[in-house]
Amino acid sequence: MYKHKSADKKKLFLLAKKVQKNAYAAYSNFYVGAAAQAEDGSIFVGCNVENAAYGVTQCAERAAISALIAAGKKKVIALAVVGSVPDFLTPCGACRQWLREFMLPQAPIYLCNDAGVQKTSSIAELL
Ligand code: THU
Repeated sequence: MYKHKSADKKKLFLLAKKVQKNAYAAYSNFYVGAAAQAEDGSIFVGCNVENAAYGVTQCAERAAISALIAAGKKKVIALAVVGSVPDFLTPCGACRQWLREFMLPQAPIYLCNDAGVQKTSSIAELL
């Protein structure tokens, strides 16, 4: 858990990129990192964790949200997700459903590649 008084887009990207390195992607070799900011400014990170039973793989976004909820926070006010893709990564359907539960419709979702934030979206837009 990382604390910032005024976490911004850049910090969320950098933290997502940092945790991306810890991904366990033994089956896809696709590393993903996510950083979720709570209402009080604290930031929680997650990476994808795969399994031989691929269906129970945990996505980075859901890992970050789980950490935020486990810490007693209630809402995600901003989220960054980064994958090694040319343009930007968008959350999968299951993650979109999770984001729908914990984010306001217009709250920023920063879609990133290795170079930085490439697009700012929202759960309203993604759904
Ligand atoms: N993955 C994520 O963690 N988040 C996304 O938004 C897209 C996909 C993971 C799941 C799996 O471990 C790997 O990336 C390939 O799909």
